[in-house]
Parts: sequence; structure tokens; C-alpha cells
Amino acid sequence: SPAEDKPVAEQCGSINYMEGHDSYMKYVIGVDIGTSGTKTVLFTLDGGVVASSVREYPLYQPQNGYAEQEPADWWNATVATIAEVLAKSGTGGGEIAGIGLSGQMHGLVMLGKDGEVLRRSIIWCDQRTAAECEEITRKVGARRLVEITANPALTGFTASKILWVRNNEPGVYEQCRKILLPKDYIRYMLTGEFATEVSDASGMQLLDVPKRDWSAEVLEKLEIDRELLGKVYESPEITGRVSEKAARLTGLKAGTPIVGGAGDNAAAAVGTGVVEDGKAFTTIGTSGVVFAHTSRISIDLPGRVHTFCCAVPGAWHVMGVTQAAGLSLKWFRDNLCSAEVEAAKGMDIDSYVLLDKQAAQVPIGANRLLYLPYLMGERTPHLDASARGVFFGLSAIHTRRDMLRAVMEGVSYSLKDCLSVLEEMGVAVGNMAACGGGGSSALWRQMLADLYDCPVKTIASKEGPALGVALLAAVGAGEYASVAEACSAVIQYGPACEPVAENTAAYLKYYTLYKELYPNLKDSFQRLAVTG
Ligand code: XUL
Repeated sequence: SPAEDKPVAEQCGSINYMEGHDSYMKYVIGVDIGTSGTKTVLFTLDGGVVASSVREYPLYQPQNGYAEQEPADWWNATVATIAEVLAKSGTGGGEIAGIGLSGQMHGLVMLGKDGEVLRRSIIWCDQRTAAECEEITRKVGARRLVEITANPALTGFTASKILWVRNNEPGVYEQCRKILLPKDYIRYMLTGEFATEVSDASGMQLLDVPKRDWSAEVLEKLEIDRELLGKVYESPEITGRVSEKAARLTGLKAGTPIVGGAGDNAAAAVGTGVVEDGKAFTTIGTSGVVFAHTSRISIDLPGRVHTFCCAVPGAWHVMGVTQAAGLSLKWFRDNLCSAEVEAAKGMDIDSYVLLDKQAAQVPIGANRLLYLPYLMGERTPHLDASARGVFFGLSAIHTRRDMLRAVMEGVSYSLKDCLSVLEEMGVAVGNMAACGGGGSSALWRQMLADLYDCPVKTIASKEGPALGVALLAAVGAGEYASVAEACSAVIQYGPACEPVAENTAAYLKYYTLYKELYPNLKDSFQRLAVTG
């Protein structure tokens, strides 16, 4: 981004550490191994961005519903981006106090006896494991599974992927000596340690989430050897140190500590300061997430939302996920708004900024048009892979602008559904921040504030997960006493969107109708899924 091209001193205001990088200066690095690419950011201890670097890599979809990535791509991207932030910043490896790892959750990496990768990683959005989810539920028991792992068997989670390999590729399973999550494979490559941490391990469906350690009962019932799994740490704990070999490749100093880090959402929570009861954030990225911190574990028995350990030792988070949030708007833009995309190019502005302006001209309710954002099935609150998108109430008076506004409102209604489940569970949510690409739209934030009926703030830093794990590294290295202390020293909020009472009342009428639509369509979605 343009900000990153500016000299370091300008980005970080008046902090005077540019005088030849005085030797007392310490830095932390956050590495975020995402689905589209790996982003590495080098920060000052107070969260200032010194340098950042991104490398993209492919997603392989060998069949409809399959999603795989090559662990070597993650590793090469990690090496290149770490080397680049060190070079860009002119920082010597010796000035790095610690490193934190974040990344896409749930992905399965299987290693053989020499630490070699046995097959491509089956990643979080892969949907091939419906039969294995039934197998897990049968073997563990539906109720026990939710009591122990805090979630029902889900195709996205790692356990069903492990069973799929055992059922379909027994030769690979036989050779497997270690099972790691994406960021934990990178930890192994950097340090030689087989380790994970509680937040990411929660998404494997093998962790006893209330007890924050592997579940002997689930492992035994699924006949998975505990030796296959890494040691479980809390997120700010030091899990290992950079090896001589990794140091040569990256420019880091051998011995630099690497802390547990966190799965992408738990890391974003630290990067947005959501580390205490009452605090929550909404992400509008490809998918949409409503995430709330809770110091008391709370589990939704029907499994409409996920309960995971969070990056604050001894605490959890509850998280609702809507599958197609930003994706709905992107789908609408790419398929129906070529004129706006061209116009935005001519004006040299982001096409989403133009779409935002157009949607703002349409009144609440989009002239009586509703949109259900179930383009990719739905997790919260319906847990229904067959659900699909709907425009409801189309009339000859409607224009593309009405449809655009309806898309943004429909995504907001789905996020309101997520929040309602959290509230039903007794998880307090008083303090809401917005992040992700959609969170930068003032119109979308206002919709959320009106629908949630609470203020919705922005976060000054855009670095979410990378900042979150860099702060965990700072805590692990002893630079801050706790995650909460690091967050209160570093995280700054922008101005809040306040709810407007008359808007809230207007939206509620449409939201009530929106909630009626899915139950009425549920059976039709099922039939559509098997038609043709
Ligand atoms: C969380 C989830 C995603 C992935 C990829 O349950 O599936 O957030 O971590 O980003």
C-alpha cells in the first residue's frame, strides 16, 4: 500500500528510532499464513509498521468441493517475506525480540518419518468429508462431541480430514508420523519443534476445549494416536527458537523465540483489542465473522456458532460465521456492475467506493427488496450446505442500485443473526469494532450499528492478525506483562458509528421478514440441491 512505501520515520510519526536504528530498538514480527497469500509484518514494540511483505500462492481445486494447498508454497512465501521485511527495514535479525505465527485454521498437513510432506494440505474450505463427519458423530456420540470439542462434527474441521485420508488413502495414512496445522508446519520448519497452541488446535475437533488439551476420549474413539499430534501451548508461550538452518535462509538470528501465536480469527481479536468480556468484533471479509471474547466457556449445543480457546490464556471466544459476506458484494460487482467497475477505473477510485455511494442513495429496505446471502451454503445460524442465495420481492421498479443495497443489507441481517445467537448464549457484547474490507465502508458500519443497536468502531491499525501475533510475541518475549497490557498500550480505535433509533426501527421490520424466509425455503433448497 502507499503507506508502506513511505519512509519508516514518516509512517511511525515522531518516534525517533531512525537515527541509524539505535541498537536498543527492538522489533517483533507477525507472520500470517492466509489462504490467498502469506503476509509478514515487522512492527515496533508499540505496533508501528516498519515493513511488510506479501507473497501469493495458488489454491488447488481438483474436484468440485475440494480445496488444497501446497505446504512448500507457504514455506517459500514465509522465507521470502521474512527476508524481505528484514531487508526493507534494514533491521538486523538480532533486533527481533520474537516472532508470532497466525494463519488459516483447520488445514491438514501430514508429515512422514523424515519430516517430509506426504500429500497436499486439505484446507479449511474443503467440503469432501460429509461421510467422515457422520463417522465421528457415530463413534464419539453427538452430545459428547459437543461437550468435549465444543462443536458438532464439521466438514471444515481437521478431524474429518484425517479420517478421510485414512479411509481413502490408507497408504498415506500409514506413512504419517506427524499431523500439523498450516502455521504449525511453518513453526516446524523454522524451529524443528512439533507444536501447536490452543486457539488453532480448537479447530481440529480433537481438543478438549474446556480443558485446553488433547482429548484422550476423542482420540481413543477415533483411533488416532496422540503421538501424531504436537505439544499444545497457550498462545503467548515460547514454543521454540529459530534453527541455524532457518536463520541462514531467512536472515533471522538463530535462537530468536517463536511464540504459539493463534488461528486467524483469534489473532485478529488481539490485533483489534478484543481480549476482555464485553468486547467483540465483526469482520466483513470474504466470509463474515462476529467474534466475542468470553472468560467463561459457553457452548451452543446445536452448534450454530463455534466455541474456541482464544489467545488470552484461560479464556475462550464464541464466533458466528456467515459464509458469503464480502463475497456476496464481490459476486454482485463482478457479474452485474461492469459499468460501475469501468467508471471507477476512469475516476481512479476503488470500485467498492463507487458502489457504496450508489447504495447510500437507496432508502432502508431497498424499496422492499430482500437478499439472502447463502451463495456458499450457510454456517450460522442454519448449518446448511444446501442453502442458496435469494432476492425476494423483486418488482419492475427495482434497479441495480436497489439490488446492491439489498445485498449489503442481507449480509448485515446475517451478521445480526450471528450476534443474536451470541446474545442468546448469554455472551455479553457491548463494545463492537468492525474490520475486514467491508468494515472500511462507513455505510456498512452504519447498517451494523443500526441493526446491532450499538456503536460500531473502527481500528486504527489495518494489520489485524499479523499485529495480533506480533503482540503475542512481545508478551512471550517479556516486553509486556500480559496480552491485555499489550493491547491497551498499542490498539487505537477510530471514531464510532452510533446507532440511529429510527433506522433501527426501520431495519427491524425488514429483518423480521428476512428471518421468515429461510424456514419457508429450507425444503426447497434441499430439493434444488438434488435437481437436474
Ligand atoms: C474459521 C475459518 C476461517 C479460516 C480461514 O473457522 O474457517 O476463518 O480460518 O480463514
